[in-house]
Amino acid sequence: MHEVNANGTNIPAIGMGTWTLEGDQARSLVAKALESGYRHIDTAAMYKNENEVGQGLKDSGLARDDFFLTTKVWPSEAAPEDFIASAEASLDRLGTDHVDLILIHWPSKTVPFAETIAALNEVHAKGWAKAIGISNFTIDQIEEVVALPGAPLACNQIEYHPLLNQTRVIETCRKHGLAVTSYCPLARGDDLFSNPAVTGPAARTGASPAQIVLRWHVQQDGVIAIPRTSNPNRLGENLNIDGFELTAAEMAAISALRGAGHRICDFDFSPVWDAA
Ligand SMILES: NC(=O)c1ccc[n+]([C@@H]2O[C@H](COP(=O)([O-])OP(=O)(O)OC[C@H]3O[C@@H](n4cnc5c(N)ncnc54)[C@H](OP(=O)(O)O)[C@@H]3O)[C@@H](O)[C@H]2O)c1
Repeated sequence: MHEVNANGTNIPAIGMGTWTLEGDQARSLVAKALESGYRHIDTAAMYKNENEVGQGLKDSGLARDDFFLTTKVWPSEAAPEDFIASAEASLDRLGTDHVDLILIHWPSKTVPFAETIAALNEVHAKGWAKAIGISNFTIDQIEEVVALPGAPLACNQIEYHPLLNQTRVIETCRKHGLAVTSYCPLARGDDLFSNPAVTGPAARTGASPAQIVLRWHVQQDGVIAIPRTSNPNRLGENLNIDGFELTAAEMAAISALRGAGHRICDFDFSPVWDAA
């Protein structure tokens, strides 16, 4: 699997999402993912599985430098002291002295970005995170934070799949050298997997619908995808998407589904999303 250059940080283009995985299942899936070739794991303080993810990392027997690990700080901890304490607690639970990337999980509605970005940079300066980034930031919010002092931001982790038009926010990320990490990259499956724009290339290549959708992500400049599965038999399927390529026409046909405007993660604390 290739890596994406995210303002100087190299991030494997496919990672394993872990939201909703918990307990022994999270532990064994993380270990199995690493054993089967994943080199990028995505968690967050909010997922309440960092202990188990950390155990899975150890069970894999891989050296710490052999995989890329991301965690995130929840917006309730956006004030500097809280942010730093949250980062330290995450490291403790994960059983590591650093993550590769730490993200502001959602933009805070109460704490000025300058304060949280300063704390993010302090976590970076302490060596607790090799790179820093944001998640769920809109165009104006990206413009605001990239203008603040500090280390370059590596990525914006956002909801992105064929059923949601994120063209403008992605252009803003590219303009500033940020990678886009697609969450809900499969749009949670189902409807998308039976769409002819997906089943057509699946029939042509012999790849599964999920593989077609993941290939669509990583064939875009600067895009990373972090699919989640609770099924150990699907881990390899979601990683092994290098054996075929989508044509320009197939890419365009899948992108054309974006008119559906299907947003999955929309909460009362979400920012006002950019218009399509
Ligand atoms: N930053 C944020 O605010 C944020 C928000 C949401 C998510 N995330 C991150 O993004 C990750 C992925 O997003 P997500 O979990 O919401 O959605 P997703 O990856 O788009 O979809 C997960 C669903 O797809 C199914 N699936 C996975 N692989 C499949 C395959 N090969 N064939 C058929 N079905 C398959 C899974 O079912 P099975 O389990 O049965 O395989 C599960 O129901 C999360 O785990 C989390 O790490 C971040």
